[in-house]
Amino acid sequence: MKLFVSEGNPHCLKVLAALEVTGVQCSVQYVNHEEKVVPFLSRPVLPALLLPSGLHLFSSNAICRYLFEVSGQESSELCNQWLEWEATDLQPALLQALHMAVLQGKGSEVSKVLQGPLKFLDQSLTKGGKPYLNGDTVSLADLVLWAALYPVLSDSSLALGEHKSVNSWFDRVASIHSCLSAAQKVLQGKGLQGMKSYMQRQPAPQSNQCRDTQPCNSNPAEGEEGERDFSEEEMEAAALTWSKGLSTSPVVTDRQHPILPQEGKRNILVTSALPYVNNVPHLGNIIGCVLSADVFSRYGRLRDWNLLFVCGTDEYGTATENKAREEGLTPQLICDKYHAVHSSIYKWFQIDFDFFGRTTTEKQTEIAQNIFWRLHKNGFLVEDTVEQLRCENCQRFLADRFVEGICPHCKYPEARGDQCDKCGRLINAVELREPQCKVCRQTPVIRSSKHLFLDLPKLETQLEQWLEKSTSTGDWTANAKQITRSWLRDGLKPRCITRDLLWGTPVPHPDFKEKVFYVWFDAPIGYLSITANYTDKWEKWWKNPHQVELYNFMAKDNVPFHSVVFPCSLLGAQDNYTLVNHLVATEYLNYEDTKFSKSRGVGVFGDMAKDTGIPADVWRFYLLYVRPEGQDSAFSWADMALKNNSELLNNLGNFINRAGMFVAKFFEGCVPVMELQQEDKRLLALVGWELQQYIQLMDKVKIRDALKHILNISRHGNQYIQVNEPWKKIKGGDTERQRAGTVTGVSVNIACLLSVMLMPYMPAVSQTIRDQLNAPQSCVNTMLQGTGTFVCSLCAGHRIGTVSPLFQKLEADQIEALKKRFGGQQPEDEPSKEKKTPQSTASPQPAAVPATAAADEVAMVNGVDPEKAKQLTQAVAEQGDKVRALKAQKAEKAVITAEVAKLLDLKKQLALAEGKSPEPAPQKGKKK
Ligand code: MF3
Ligand code: ZN
Repeated sequence: MKLFVSEGNPHCLKVLAALEVTGVQCSVQYVNHEEKVVPFLSRPVLPALLLPSGLHLFSSNAICRYLFEVSGQESSELCNQWLEWEATDLQPALLQALHMAVLQGKGSEVSKVLQGPLKFLDQSLTKGGKPYLNGDTVSLADLVLWAALYPVLSDSSLALGEHKSVNSWFDRVASIHSCLSAAQKVLQGKGLQGMKSYMQRQPAPQSNQCRDTQPCNSNPAEGEEGERDFSEEEMEAAALTWSKGLSTSPVVTDRQHPILPQEGKRNILVTSALPYVNNVPHLGNIIGCVLSADVFSRYGRLRDWNLLFVCGTDEYGTATENKAREEGLTPQLICDKYHAVHSSIYKWFQIDFDFFGRTTTEKQTEIAQNIFWRLHKNGFLVEDTVEQLRCENCQRFLADRFVEGICPHCKYPEARGDQCDKCGRLINAVELREPQCKVCRQTPVIRSSKHLFLDLPKLETQLEQWLEKSTSTGDWTANAKQITRSWLRDGLKPRCITRDLLWGTPVPHPDFKEKVFYVWFDAPIGYLSITANYTDKWEKWWKNPHQVELYNFMAKDNVPFHSVVFPCSLLGAQDNYTLVNHLVATEYLNYEDTKFSKSRGVGVFGDMAKDTGIPADVWRFYLLYVRPEGQDSAFSWADMALKNNSELLNNLGNFINRAGMFVAKFFEGCVPVMELQQEDKRLLALVGWELQQYIQLMDKVKIRDALKHILNISRHGNQYIQVNEPWKKIKGGDTERQRAGTVTGVSVNIACLLSVMLMPYMPAVSQTIRDQLNAPQSCVNTMLQGTGTFVCSLCAGHRIGTVSPLFQKLEADQIEALKKRFGGQQPEDEPSKEKKTPQSTASPQPAAVPATAAADEVAMVNGVDPEKAKQLTQAVAEQGDKVRALKAQKAEKAVITAEVAKLLDLKKQLALAEGKSPEPAPQKGKKK
C-alpha cells in the first residue's frame, strides 16, 4: 500500500493522522499538487491511496475509513453520519473560509462563514455530553473533523468565537500525538500560510455556498465588512497625529523609591495576593496573582500613573508548621528558604515588584495588633467558646485547611475546613461531616476553648454601603461581584480570628496569651506591613482613600476574604483605611485536562519553567493568552506550541522581522522617506484604532483581551506588506522604490509601536525589539495621552540596529517530551535528578528559522501576468477608496452601486491576472 500526499493540502492532514493513529503499515510518498497519481482521473487528486489490489481510493474520508477498517475498527453509523456531514456541510464552508483567510487576507470575515457548522458541532457535543463525537473514546469521526478544522481552529487570529465544547474537544484530540504530528507534517508549522500554494490551485468557491450567511450576496458593497471603515476625516486625523511625531510627548518619569502618592496624579496601589510560603507556586498561581498584577503595573507605569506594586509571602499558619516538621527545620527557616524560592521564581518570570516582602516581620505584629485593639475598643470583637477539632494522633489542634470532610451545604466530599471548593461557601471546620486530619487521616476529636470573633453581623450595614459604592464605581470582575453577593445573601456570621497555634502573630490580649491570629485575619494585613517595610510613610498609601485607588489581584477562591472579611476588619478599625476599589479575580487555570497537583507531580511549577528551555517571555505570553479571564481555562502543551508557532513566530515575530529586514536590506539600515497615500493612512487609522481598544481594555484590566489587539496589529501589518510587496517594488522605478520606502517606513514604525504595547506582556522581547530598531527612549511615551496615539517615532533617516529573529519554533517532539516530563507520575525520587540542561529537551539544534523577508519573495512569485496584476491591485485599491469615501459621505445609493460594480469588475480582472478563477459576479438580490 502506498499513500500519496502533498504538503499544505488539508485533506492530507486527515489521512496522515489516520495512518499514524491506526498504525497501519503503508508507505507515504510526498508529491507536488500537480502530480496525477490516479491515472484515470481528469485532474490531479490528492491524497490518494494505492491499494494492494492496484485499485485507488481518492476521497480523503474514504481513505480514513479504510485505514480504520484495516486496523480492525469498524466505523459506527454515528461515525459515518459525521463523515457525511463533514463532506457535505462542513467542507464547502471550510473551503470558502480558507479561501478568504489564505488568499484574500480576510481572516476577520471567516467567522461568519463558519458560524453555522461550528454552532451545530458545538451543540451536538454539548448535548452528547461525552468527550468525543462517538462517546468516550476517540473515533474516526473525531479524527476526520479535527483534521478538517485544524487549519482554522488552530489559528486563533480568526477569532471564531467561543464554542466551548468544540474548543475543549479540539484540544482533547490535539493532545493525541499522532494528530499534532500529522498537522506539523502537512502545514510545516506555517499555519494557514502553509496552505497557500495549495489554495491557489483550487477553484474559487461559489459564494452561494455559504448558505447560512446572509451577508455574502445580499449587498456587494458589504464585501469589505469586517475591515473597519474609516471616514476621510478619521484617516486624515490619523495621518496628522502620526506626522507630529514624538517631539511634543511628555516623558514617562523614572521610578524613584520610595514611591508615594502625589497630589494631582493618579495614585495606584497594586497588590497581588500573597502566595503561601510553604510551597512552590504553579503556573495557575502565577497567572492568578503575581503575573496579572505585574502586567497591569507595567501598563500603569507606561501610562505614567504613580503606581506602587507590592507583594510578599504569606508565612504564618499551620501549613508552615507542618512543612517545618516535614523538612526538620524551624518554621522561620522554612520561611526563609521558601521566601527565597518564591523570589527567584518571580525574578525569572520578570515580575517587577516595587517591593516583595513577607508577613513574618515586626511591622506585621505592630500593625495587626493595632488593628486588633481598635476593633476591640470599637466593640467589634466578641468572645465565644468554640469547639475545635484536635487530632490526638498528631497532638495538635487542626487548622481549618488541615481538615477535610463533606461540605455541610453542598455535600462535596473533599471540602476543606475553611472553605468548600465546590460551592464556595466558608465553613467552620467543626461543621464538616466525617472530618479527617489531612496529615494522618485519623478522625479528629472536638475540644472546646475560648476564642475571639470578628462581629461581621454588626458591620454588615457599613460593609454593604461601602460595597455598593466600590462595586459600582470600580472595576470588579464579574466573579468577584457574584461571590461577594452570594456571601452576603447567606447572611454574615461572626468569624473566629484566633487560633491555638505557635506560628503566627501573637494575640496581644492577656486573656488569649497562648493564641495567635488566624491566618486569614493576619495575612491581608500583610499588604500594609509589607508596604510599611518598604517605606515609613506607608500610611500615605493605606490611610488615604481619597488619593489612592487600590487594585487587588487574586484567584477567585480569595475573593470573600478581600471583599468581606478584610474590609470589615478595616472598617471596624475606623482609621480611615484605604479599601479596595478594583477587585480583579481570575478563574482557575487547569493543567491539560486536569488540575495542577504537587503530590501527583502533575503540572508545571514555577521553578521548573526555566528548565524547559522556553524563554520566560514566551511563558508569560502563553499564560496571559490563556489567562482564565471570565471562565476557567487550561494550560496545554500542544496549544502552547501552536500559539508560539502561529502567533509569536508567524504573525508577530515575522512582521517585526520583515519590517526591520527591509530597512536593513533595501535602505542600508536607515528608515526611508515616507509619503503617505490613502492606503497608508487607512492603516494608520486602523492601527490607531487597535491601540485604542488595547488601552480601553487594559484600563479595565482585561489583560487577555487586550493582548489580542497587539496580535491584530501585526496581522494588519503582515497583510499590508503582503499586498504592497516592497521587495518587488524596490527593484522598480523611482515611484515604485518610493512606494517600497513608504511601506517599509510605516511598517518599521508599527514594529516600534508593537514593542511598546508588548512591554507589559513580554518585557524582554519588547526591549530587544527597541534595541534592534535602535528606538529612542521616548517612544515609550505613546500611551501617555488619553487614548494613546500612534505617531511616527522612527523618522526618515533614523538608523536602526541589527535585526534578528525574535522567536524560536517549538517542535512537536520537543513538546511531546515536555508533556511526558510534566504530565504526572514523575518518579517519586528527586525530581531534580531528572533535570536536564536547559536545551536537552529541546531539539538538538534550535531549528527556529522564522519566516524572513527572503522567504516571502519566493512565495509571492506566482502570478500569470504580474505586471498587469500589479496595476490592477493598485486600481482595486483606488476604487476601494472611492467606494469607501462615497459610503462615508452617505452618497446616493445608485452612485455607490455603480462604483461597487466597477470595483467588482476590477477584482475579477485582477483574479484572472493572478491566475485564479474569478469569483462569480454576485447576484443582485435587491430591487430598485
Ligand atoms: N496565601 C493566600 C493564598 O495563596 C493568599 C493570601 S492573600 C492575603 O491563597 F491578602 F490575604 F494575604
Ligand atoms: Zn492527624
